[in-house]
Amino acid sequence: MKAAVCASYGGPEVVSVDDVPVPEPGPGEVRVAVGFASVNFPDVLMTSGSYQIKVPPPFVLGSEFAGVVSAVGVDVSAVVVGDAVFGTGLVGAFAEQVVAPEAALTKLPDGVGTDVAAGFGVCHRTAYHSLRSVAKVRDGEELIVLGAGGGVGLATVQLGAVMGATVTAVASSDEKLDAAKSCGASRLINYRGADLRAVLKDQIPGGVDVVIDPVGGDLSEPSLRALHRGGRFVTVGYASGVIPKIPLNLVLLKDIAIVGFEFRGWAVANAEELARNDAELMALLAEGRVAPHIGARFSFDDVRAAIRHVADGKAIGKVLLDISSK
Ligand SMILES: NC(=O)c1ccc[n+]([C@@H]2O[C@H](COP(=O)([O-])OP(=O)(O)OC[C@H]3O[C@@H](n4cnc5c(N)ncnc54)[C@H](OP(=O)(O)O)[C@@H]3O)[C@@H](O)[C@H]2O)c1
Repeated sequence: MKAAVCASYGGPEVVSVDDVPVPEPGPGEVRVAVGFASVNFPDVLMTSGSYQIKVPPPFVLGSEFAGVVSAVGVDVSAVVVGDAVFGTGLVGAFAEQVVAPEAALTKLPDGVGTDVAAGFGVCHRTAYHSLRSVAKVRDGEELIVLGAGGGVGLATVQLGAVMGATVTAVASSDEKLDAAKSCGASRLINYRGADLRAVLKDQIPGGVDVVIDPVGGDLSEPSLRALHRGGRFVTVGYASGVIPKIPLNLVLLKDIAIVGFEFRGWAVANAEELARNDAELMALLAEGRVAPHIGARFSFDDVRAAIRHVADGKAIGKVLLDISSK
């Protein structure tokens, strides 16, 4: 089968579509014939060897996919061959066939396409768990979303609006902000050339309840300063490449809570909440109230260009790989 292999750590150029053996599912595992996969920022970090979990090359890249079950191992009960499913993992998704534990798969709701499902499992779940369980966003609250045109950001905008928050989207381009508006953002702030602290103070003089930050860098502190007393700041990622250093007196002065969210660790520690949130989120998807914004599609042969697109911060919402195009 064809698979996108990361032969050594480096930029997108180290990835090539090669022939590799078809993987066999072990006990409790399922093999899926992949229709679409999506490129996430952590795939960029995985390629360069700078992700928090390192897989020694060579390995098949890709953490998110959707397709049809093609084989099941022993002790698998939730799916059968022919079921349409989507799933997430650490690696292996940019391939014609991927093997994943049964527990990592979800059946597609009726009417949801494989392409839509391939863009749902990472960003919308990250956004929903962050908003629902970590920030505990409530109806009517003010929410700032940084990186609001990116995968996690745009999902956070959409889900924040569905949860009844008034969403302020912060991004680097009008194109990204247009996407945020279409996903329900009420205020749009292009931070390029702007004094973000002053703009936020001017536009939201009463302050905000929650900040969701997948970007870090120079945007974090001015956003944190926009919180009012008792506000919550959730640090989700550092796509800017810079981990911000926050003066602690800002936290003390307004009783602010700074909380981290890291999917794998949180999921292990919060199994019941994870299941409840996932069920709620699947209902929103099935009802058509939320869906990933697909900003770009690439053929399997163009996998390097797809990774480059994400690495350069150009992604708007989700970036899909059409694996069946091979
Ligand atoms: N905590 C978790 O469990 C979890 C789960 C999923 C993802 N993440 C992390 O969340 C972060 C965002 O992921 P994502 O899927 O939303 O990524 P994305 O789609 O690439 O969006 C990231 C955004 O970051 C901004 N950015 C600023 N400087 C950048 C740079 N030098 N390179 C790339 N982007 C830059 C860009 O927004 P502007 O153009 O508006 O500046 C971009 O839209 C990543 O760090 C990822 O690893 C964490």
